[in-house]
Amino acid sequence: MKTTGYVNVSLNVNGRSYEVEAEPRTLLIDLLRNTLKIKSVRRGCEEGECGACTVLLNGKPIYSCLTLAVQVDGAEILTVEGLIKDEKMHSLMQAFIENYAVQCGYCTPGMILAAYYLLNTVENPTEEDIRRSVSGNLCRCTGYVNIIKAIKDTVRRKKRENQIKVTKGDAPYKV
Ligand code: FES
Ligand code: FES
Repeated sequence: MKTTGYVNVSLNVNGRSYEVEAEPRTLLIDLLRNTLKIKSVRRGCEEGECGACTVLLNGKPIYSCLTLAVQVDGAEILTVEGLIKDEKMHSLMQAFIENYAVQCGYCTPGMILAAYYLLNTVENPTEEDIRRSVSGNLCRCTGYVNIIKAIKDTVRRKKRENQIKVTKGDAPYKV
């Protein structure tokens, strides 16, 4: 039964469907953190400056602190938890660890999601593309050098994997 003053919101988060009640003023960040207990979505500035609350909404990065829960009715949301498949981390997450791109870790989920969007939308991103992709995400520990290194590393790995796939498949230049 619907509680008075609340609205029903249906959404899919990390591949799982939810039907929840929210006040019309409830922010998406609060719905994710408090109702669904997804704590990787971080609360920072709460005014669209730091990017700590970044999630992907239907594949695109948004600030969940500036989005009302009712606005995402029927939408798909991705948080970093959704990048773990069969207990295996996405290569971006692995690269952040290997390149020491995580200090306090507060900005990390948002950074990874911003970079994930880049990898999904730009085939061979340049360093400038990489820098631009995370320009809406601030790192208070100022670990930018290693964050950029981690993303570049993932781009290189992805390229290598694609080359291996082509070599293993029907090579267009077979002799
Ligand atoms: S908490 Fe949303 S942008 Fe800072
Ligand atoms: S690692 Fe601490 S805020 Fe970025």
